[in-house]
Amino acid sequence: MPTPSFAGVLPTPSTFERSDSSTKTRGNGDAIVELRNVTKSFGQQEVLRGVTFIAKRNETTVIVGGSGAGKTTLLRLIVGLDRPTSGEILIEGEDITKMRESQLNRIRKKFGMVYQYAALLDSITVAENIAFPLVEHTKLSRHAIRDRVFEKLTQLGLDPAVVANKFPAELSGGMRKRVGLARALMLDPPIVIYDEPTSGLDPTTSRLVDDLIEHTRQRFGVTSIVISHDIASCFRIAHQAILLVDGRIETSGAPETWLEGPSNVAKEFIRNSGVDVRAVERIVVARETP
Ligand SMILES: Nc1ncnc2c1ncn2[C@@H]1O[C@H](COP(=O)(O)OP(=O)(O)OP(=O)(O)O)[C@@H](O)[C@H]1O
Ligand SMILES: [Mg+2]
Repeated sequence: MPTPSFAGVLPTPSTFERSDSSTKTRGNGDAIVELRNVTKSFGQQEVLRGVTFIAKRNETTVIVGGSGAGKTTLLRLIVGLDRPTSGEILIEGEDITKMRESQLNRIRKKFGMVYQYAALLDSITVAENIAFPLVEHTKLSRHAIRDRVFEKLTQLGLDPAVVANKFPAELSGGMRKRVGLARALMLDPPIVIYDEPTSGLDPTTSRLVDDLIEHTRQRFGVTSIVISHDIASCFRIAHQAILLVDGRIETSGAPETWLEGPSNVAKEFIRNSGVDVRAVERIVVARETP
């Protein structure tokens, strides 16, 4: 069964007004998202049971885990759509768990969301879809918006002359991903969240999407948090891979460390995926040590 899409969870495509240039700092190793002993219960069910990790600025953190492990729940807490039962969640150093709704709205704008099935609006063109965050959140002229849309399309390897006036249904799956990413990046969020970016795509397109995630991280200086079932993708793009099992972190670290690490559950997870991870070519650029 496919993972429920994150579509419709956020009220609008997430946006961010960059407040200072430090958000573009590359690989300086600082924490941009930090969870401290986070728990989340729904009624009697404890879905997250003490989750602690740091996502470092300009790195890619991939969260993998089986169905029902708590991945989507974790995402919703990180972007401030839901509150944990206990624990702290720091976004760029600010604990969001006790924030008022108005403060949370400011935090939500730090995240660009790339939804599982792109979640584009079918009845409007590609250009109109991408322009949406700018129309909603800025007072830019139509002309300026059009320039920005064309620039973003070009940066993501799409020819505006070809795709701008097409409708989403006229694009391939890979192109739709790019358009969804363009929309998520429109207001320069420091953090981009990808929900199952490669699910439902063929292996070749999956690889292209992985390239796109890594390229975007480098080109725009963003921090990527990726929710995925795809172990090959994880080995290609993750600086840090976190395996969530039954609401707990089973193991974390660079994905290749799972192979030699103490967790048999992690080794079994890799084995069950059927992917020969030693043959997977890593495309991620190692983080520069400070
Ligand atoms: N709003 C909610 N109310 C009650 N239970 C919930 C709620 N949201 C999630 N759960 C439960 O929490 C558990 C984890 O769900 P979650 O959606 O986080 O899993 P997941 O790892 O994203 O799974 P999948 O890979 O299938 O998407 C499930 O047992 C689910 O039923
Ligand atoms: Mg999910």
